Amino acid sequence: MLSRRELVWAAAAVTFRNDTLNIVENLVAKVNNHPEMVARDEDFWSQIQQAFTLDRNVANMNNGGCSPSPRVVQEVMRRQLELSNQAPSNYMWRILEPEIESVRTRLGKLFAVDPEEVAITRNASESLETLIYGFDLKAGDEIITTNLDYPRMVMTIQQRERRDGVKMITANCPSLPKTMDDLYRPIENAVTDKTRMIVVSQISFLNGQIFPIKKIAELGRKHNIPVIVDGAHAFVQYEFDNSDIQCDFYGTSLHKWLMAPIGTGMLYVKKDRIKDVWSMMSSKAEQAADIRKFEEIGTHPAANHNAIGEAITFHEMLGMKRKEARLRYLRSRWVDKVKDLSKVHFCTNLNPAHSCAITTVGIEGIKQGDLANWLLTKHGIFVTTIATGDIQGIRVTPNVYTTVSEINRLSNALVIAATKGIG
Ligand SMILES: Cc1ncc(COP(=O)(O)O)c(C=O)c1O
Repeated sequence: MLSRRELVWAAAAVTFRNDTLNIVENLVAKVNNHPEMVARDEDFWSQIQQAFTLDRNVANMNNGGCSPSPRVVQEVMRRQLELSNQAPSNYMWRILEPEIESVRTRLGKLFAVDPEEVAITRNASESLETLIYGFDLKAGDEIITTNLDYPRMVMTIQQRERRDGVKMITANCPSLPKTMDDLYRPIENAVTDKTRMIVVSQISFLNGQIFPIKKIAELGRKHNIPVIVDGAHAFVQYEFDNSDIQCDFYGTSLHKWLMAPIGTGMLYVKKDRIKDVWSMMSSKAEQAADIRKFEEIGTHPAANHNAIGEAITFHEMLGMKRKEARLRYLRSRWVDKVKDLSKVHFCTNLNPAHSCAITTVGIEGIKQGDLANWLLTKHGIFVTTIATGDIQGIRVTPNVYTTVSEINRLSNALVIAATKGIG
């Protein structure tokens, strides 16, 4: 028989155990094991869709920008914020802040690295700027990036140009490569004896193009050049970990594909390289080789980074393989309906090795801004627009909570736009 104390604990556990996680756990226990079969199982996904607190009047198809968090994540954040506000220096610093170590351990496991190589940041920008600013460079040193990289990271390199006299070299990569080598060669060809850093996205924000990171990381190691990988769009969008890409420096947001609280990110630095990177905000000399030096940011809410743990639990229960299969299924559902229409052109290589959930598409004769506006006002679908070089279109990014009827609404609207126009 349970003691009185055990009974009280059991009752508390039931009370605090979140309904959503119970639902997901039960669903997963019942579901078919094959991810491609689960990807089409609407009974399964209808329950997952209920785990979010969305405004369903507008179908959000810009999950590449920022994803909503499931209800469980929001609840943990809210609870911890309330507790913090009872007496921040006691509850937040003394009780809640140490939980960051558990988050570090779990993120390390997810990325298949030592937790002592993982810092928790506020977004991909903080992680990547820490790396781009963190190496000692001198005037004349070269930093390679690509034409498909993210403007804020480019802007960071440009600020180093103005401040330190370094030089940015932009490798011109095709937006619709036929092979992964088409992306690798321009970067390899840009390397000179002055190259001191390479900054490259694992997935381009422009069109969802996946880059051959393992090979680029090897190139860097061969020439002793740090390769800084921008994983903002890649981390847990499709199945991989650091054993697949083997990079030494990685920065990502966690509010995109992990669906962690808005304003969370991860920085990975290989153990023996931590001492080579200055922290962006000051840290002690004794911390030189400690990954926690990158977390010396002053007072900040513990609730945000602690709730990452709940997002990891949600993600693990959903399962990476099931999630990826569903994202690919949703993408193919709308793409297949429009791909043969003469006015439709894809700015994304649709081969599964080249892209997963993110797709950029244009319609001949319709400006992307007009198309996005029409989709929002006439069809209640929110997308973002892309207009960089030859990538001109709307970027469509569904997520695990997207319903098949929302996807059908999108494809039907695109068929109308491509055959009758939006006038
Ligand atoms: C490729 C890429 N890198 C970096 C970022 C910056 O991410 P964050 O806003 O989380 O700092 C983004 C944001 O969309 C991105 O797409």
